Amino acid sequence: MVKVITYGTYDMLHYGHIRLMERAKALGDYLIVGITSSDYDKYRGKINVEQPLVERIKAVKETGIPDEIIVEEYEGQKINDIISYGVDIFAIGSDWKGKFDYLNEYCKVVYLDRTEGISSSEIRTKENKIRIGVAGDAAQEEFMKYVSECGYVNGAEVTGIYSEETASPEITNLDHKLFDSYDELLEACDAVYLAPRPEKRYEMARKALLAGKHALCKSPIALSGDQCRELFKIAEDKHLILMDAIKTAYSTAYNRLRLLVKSGKIGKVISISANCTSLAEGKDIGDFRYQWNTIQSWGPIAMMPVFQMLGTDYTDVRYICRKNENRPNIDAFLEMDFLYPSATANIKLGNEVKSESDLIVAGTKGYIYVPSPWWKTDYFEIRYEDTSKNSRFFYQLDGEGIRFELVTFVRSVREAAYLSDAHLEKKTTECISETIHRYSEGKNVIVLER
Ligand code: CTP
Repeated sequence: MVKVITYGTYDMLHYGHIRLMERAKALGDYLIVGITSSDYDKYRGKINVEQPLVERIKAVKETGIPDEIIVEEYEGQKINDIISYGVDIFAIGSDWKGKFDYLNEYCKVVYLDRTEGISSSEIRTKENKIRIGVAGDAAQEEFMKYVSECGYVNGAEVTGIYSEETASPEITNLDHKLFDSYDELLEACDAVYLAPRPEKRYEMARKALLAGKHALCKSPIALSGDQCRELFKIAEDKHLILMDAIKTAYSTAYNRLRLLVKSGKIGKVISISANCTSLAEGKDIGDFRYQWNTIQSWGPIAMMPVFQMLGTDYTDVRYICRKNENRPNIDAFLEMDFLYPSATANIKLGNEVKSESDLIVAGTKGYIYVPSPWWKTDYFEIRYEDTSKNSRFFYQLDGEGIRFELVTFVRSVREAAYLSDAHLEKKTTECISETIHRYSEGKNVIVLER
């Protein structure tokens, strides 16, 4: 019996897939189809796959062509499969020509002509494309990253840009249309990504929602819990998606870390320490772009793991800050201590103070350690008293999580459902805004002498 094997994602099964499987089967007597797992696809940068693995397996099975279906989970698995299943022929579409010649050592490699004019990517792209307008301040670090990351997301396209700072060098060499006003941009798009200065976000998000546009807004989306709740209420009433743009929330490693904590791997969480510091070295501090309080720039990212793992009902919070020498209304360093009935958390934020920017989640059985800079996390460790039980975890992170965040946003918009809630709950977003508000009111704030 001649055994043939072929591999693919088989997302939104189409005629090209069926023809490929038929021809592969005709090369022998028995066909094995390897279907990529969702994790493996993410690892190899294929982030736009629409259907979960079970649905893709079901669709391939229903064609009745394969004799056996297996799941491809890791790089290098093909060699193992060929040996363990006793495969004679490896067949794959001609788009992979030459890439699998190394398998000739184990079996015969056949490249079959790809069917012209159809692909999963094309099907996904044809589905109503969401026109995204990017608005705010182009001088902000992440503004342009969102513009370019949109290019990796099927079903999204950047309609144009509106920047309050038209003089900024970042937008002079743009391929995208530059709008003169926010209103004009809103008219031309279905959804917006908002990254203006913190105090303008609420107003711009509100305007977008009232105009019937979905919004993905840089965090904090508002500077008080009340404003935040109002925005979510408008979004709900108008059946729109409003999403808080904290990219770390969408990274695979951070999500796996949360699941491990939830499943009791480190016991009961007693203490969290999250630090985010970066010196504004080389940057012109006289520039308005760097005149934010650390709680507005770093606060949301650092507060997120605290509220997600210990909850939003802290009983008290204390703020200790050091002010900027030249601008007494701006802080250069902020430490926050949260008290819970049976846990505590400490956050250090700094624009003019440097510290190790790591994340530690301490529990009754062990702790999780995420090295600096933890918010770009692709790696973490679970550590125990008995170090032989320690484990290390690594998950590929492309585009700093922005790509995964945009994919979730675009899917949420398309499916008109808050898929984002699985990553960043509304109550976490609200609590971030509320905690920033408390600080601005001066409650429990200690100012260090200079
Ligand atoms: N294939 C083909 N003809 C097409 C599309 C795919 O012969 N028009 C083949 C591929 O070469 C591969 C198999 O079908 O051997 C599974 O491909 P897969 O990557 O799942 O499908 P694509 O449509 O190429 O997906 P995408 O657009 O996401 O890359």
